[in-house]
Amino acid sequence: MSDLFKEKAQEWDSRPISLLISEQIGKALLEQVSMGAEMSVMDFGAGTGLICTQVAPKVKRVVAVDISDAMLQKLAQKTEQTDNVVSVCQDILSQPLNERFDLIISAMALHHVQDTDALLKRLFEHLAPNGSVALADLDHEDGHFHPLDVEGVYHHGFERAVLQQQLEQAGFHDIHFTTAAKINKEGRKYPVFLGHCKKGLMPHFQDEPEH
Ligand SMILES: C[S@@+](CC[C@H](N)C(=O)[O-])C[C@H]1O[C@@H](n2cnc3c(N)ncnc32)[C@H](O)[C@@H]1O
Repeated sequence: MSDLFKEKAQEWDSRPISLLISEQIGKALLEQVSMGAEMSVMDFGAGTGLICTQVAPKVKRVVAVDISDAMLQKLAQKTEQTDNVVSVCQDILSQPLNERFDLIISAMALHHVQDTDALLKRLFEHLAPNGSVALADLDHEDGHFHPLDVEGVYHHGFERAVLQQQLEQAGFHDIHFTTAAKINKEGRKYPVFLGHCKKGLMPHFQDEPEH
């Protein structure tokens, strides 16, 4: 699989828009999602770690999952002095981790995964019984956020009501959405949602990662 973020990784952390989005999402996450010193957290689509480096000081351990080696290399440079952030370059949709988490966070990565239902099911399977997920991404937009020819963008944001149904279908409950960020880009406004929900305990949902 080619690394679609290989070039972008070099300047990701100096792009004002990356910094703005991650600052606002990070603030919303820390304000709205309870975190504790014993928690283990997965950051799905962690990239260069703009979000998980904000979360790491509050929790026991962060596993930063991404399919871009270039993005994770940038994260590794930042976390050399940190012993509670581990990077995993792996597509958990095809190869799950053998670990469960108290919290899974994800920022601006959902729209890069074609099969949202499969991803939500996979995240559900990676949660400990009382775990929760906090997902931030664009609200549905008209397709102008990314350049037209960009590869690997499968969704022009998400309708909250539709995503809520998909989360319920995957087994999540107590689903709440807030607006985590409001991005101005080239004269257009793009709200970013933060959806937080808990792992339901319905017995008919398989919750063991498949190997
Ligand atoms: C827009 S970037 C966001 C990075 C970071 N979360 C942030 O807020 O700065 C999206 C990230 O999702 C990653 N990604 C895309 N598809 C993925 C997949 N199937 N599994 C894990 N990460 C994926 C990309 O490699 C990229 O690093």
